[in-house]
Amino acid sequence: MEIQIFENYEELSINAARLVAAQVRLKPDSVLGLATGSTPLGMYAELVRMHEEENLDFSEVTSLNLDEYLGLGEEDDQSYVSFMREHLFSKINIDPEATYLPDGLAADPEEAAMYYEMLADMVPRDLQILGIGRNGHIGFNEPDDVFPVETHVTDLTESTIQANQRFFKSEEEVPRQAITMGMKQIMAAKKILLLASGAEKAETIADLVFGEVTSQVPASILNLHPDVVIMLDEPAARYLVEEYGFDEEEEDED
Ligand code: F6R
Repeated sequence: MEIQIFENYEELSINAARLVAAQVRLKPDSVLGLATGSTPLGMYAELVRMHEEENLDFSEVTSLNLDEYLGLGEEDDQSYVSFMREHLFSKINIDPEATYLPDGLAADPEEAAMYYEMLADMVPRDLQILGIGRNGHIGFNEPDDVFPVETHVTDLTESTIQANQRFFKSEEEVPRQAITMGMKQIMAAKKILLLASGAEKAETIADLVFGEVTSQVPASILNLHPDVVIMLDEPAARYLVEEYGFDEEEEDED
């Protein structure tokens, strides 16, 4: 894993966008795996700027999102399909027909999950963007006794419901379930870029980097992937540096 630490969220976002832009410029028909949440917002804003001012062209890109809340669709502001439209898809020249998310309104969510798994098998990701939950989740793969393998319907943990409450009027409104890609599809990506910002992620980042690979910290599975870049701002890197003595420059020399 390559770990890059930036002074603040803005620098983190700009550098994350540069990596995505390089991917798209080198391979215009790239398949991008996308995440929602607060963390990638700055990166998406920078990608929009690069599209507007630097001709970054998404016309041949395909995207697959990691997850969607069960029960929410494009009519709901809080659905991930709405999030992606608002912050990225409506502002760049990606073909809307080439943007995929699990169907949160499916009459049969299990079937929708199976369908998404098949779709993801057909369009492997060149680059997968990930955020990370305070409890170490990636996608909505929550801490559990085993790593979930395929796309599935999942119950959100209390910690995730509380963390995501900030996007809703009240805790009651936060959906209790989601459809999420499992570890197989995440790990199948050629390259993975995980972003984390803020002190509340510092402990789980240290667990991910220095802890054992365990399904209780779902992101720890990334230690088994050959090409992972972790971009952190200083608050998110605090434990790595202060508790574990992580030194970015020493790592570079290795
Ligand atoms: C969102 C997703 C989640 C988030 C994670 C962090 O599509 O898959 O794993 O990346 O919950 O969310 P933020 O960035 O809001 O802290």
